[in-house]
Amino acid sequence: MAITRPEYILAIDQGTTGTRAVIFNHNARRVTSTAVQMTPIVPHTGWLEQRPVDIWRTAQTAIADALINAGIRGDEVKAIGIANQRETTIVWDRQTGQPIYNAISWSSTQSQSIADALTNAGHAEMIREKTGLPISAYFSATKIRWILDHVEGAQERAEAGELVFGTVDTWLLWQLTDGETHATDASNASRTMLYNIHTQTWDEELLQLFNIPASMLPTVHTSSEVIATTNPMQFFGGRVPVASVIGDQNASLVGQLALEPGTIKNTYGAGAFLLMNTGKEPVKSQNQLVTTIAYQVGDEPTYALEGAIFSAGSAVQWLHDRLGLIATQLDAWQLAEQSQNNDEVYVVPAFNGLGAPYWDPQARGAVFGMTRGTDKADFVKATLQSIAYQTADILTIMKAESKYDVVKMKADGTVSRNPYLMQFQADIANIEIERSIDEDTTPLGAAFLAGLAVGYWQNLSDLAQYIQNGRHFGVDLPVERREALLNGWHNAIAATRYFSE
Ligand code: G3P
Repeated sequence: MAITRPEYILAIDQGTTGTRAVIFNHNARRVTSTAVQMTPIVPHTGWLEQRPVDIWRTAQTAIADALINAGIRGDEVKAIGIANQRETTIVWDRQTGQPIYNAISWSSTQSQSIADALTNAGHAEMIREKTGLPISAYFSATKIRWILDHVEGAQERAEAGELVFGTVDTWLLWQLTDGETHATDASNASRTMLYNIHTQTWDEELLQLFNIPASMLPTVHTSSEVIATTNPMQFFGGRVPVASVIGDQNASLVGQLALEPGTIKNTYGAGAFLLMNTGKEPVKSQNQLVTTIAYQVGDEPTYALEGAIFSAGSAVQWLHDRLGLIATQLDAWQLAEQSQNNDEVYVVPAFNGLGAPYWDPQARGAVFGMTRGTDKADFVKATLQSIAYQTADILTIMKAESKYDVVKMKADGTVSRNPYLMQFQADIANIEIERSIDEDTTPLGAAFLAGLAVGYWQNLSDLAQYIQNGRHFGVDLPVERREALLNGWHNAIAATRYFSE
């Protein structure tokens, strides 16, 4: 009797700091997980770039390591799901596949003057109406414009149809199929500032405004369908369907099974990204949140309201790398618990300006409230607290702008492993927190969507049986204390912005 070998789903999670490959079995358990780090390039203050070749190389290495660890061949992978850092922009030659410039990272601010010019010309309302986004150098459109402006001859080549644009998912799809496929999904398209999230098309008026030829843009698919099949030369001998592509923050929403309208998750990574599922309804924000496509399964997209915090784990990293205040994540927790300070210290980690809900590209980091008694523990505590304060400000707006009575938030991401931060988050935002058992739910979300597309799993909600409960953090802070702390934070934010003027 022939023995059938089990089949697996491979998730590729490509982010700013590196690429991971995770292999899941039918019970949604990780068979293996590998990671390959990447060093970004910082050509100038505030700029962040990556070599596209490094992005692909780290993906290849991570996949190879994962297959070897799991002891399986490329063709034993049933389907591949890609979750990727969003907005990061790559432009390459359609014939040769050679990038014409580095990948410009989502957090890079080199296209700020392009964003400012658009705001000054009065385009903000039209852009928000169509794309759900505030004008910002964060999104891809200004980055594409910057590349076309700064690489000699690029605009002419783009107009001649020689150049293509892609976010990182598109770049990986291109590599995996050896240049056969130029595609993306609706969640990634919705981060470009060129995609009309209501008509679900690349928007002609925006393309004209940015002077970007339509021929550069990838075909947009749903987040759960067979988009392409890998070229065996590029995928360890396997012809495997790539059955899901989705932005990483959106993938963790799916991985957390936050599928019901009104459910919220926050992923505490280098940045922190809060997404509220708003179902089939795109909720327009009056207060600088982003209306975005969370994911698309089937004909209609599922929308989300999002708040993007630019400095979260990166602020904790700064305590380690630049200030030498902590050696490990554990130190950050223990020092925060040790702090005796009641004259509150506030750290505003506006290293790259401030994201939601303040959207102030000029703001720069600041520390307030120090006294002669302030010590290292207070400083570490204040840095952790800054992540929770930013989240609380976004939650206040989300609750007000959506019709949902939110009492609970799902949390994941590296920094969510810090119990001090989680408890302070619950207290300051007056919200219960369910922290996932897995540090990272992003690969799981991509795997779920890929497995769904190839019939490996039948229904996203059935997957609840495989998800174990994580840790719960309840609210335990008197209301007066919460208000006093928030008041101090808002004064710190206001002062930071005052100094940036
Ligand atoms: O929007 C940016 C987000 O997708 C960041 O991803 O992996 O670089 O933290 P990552």
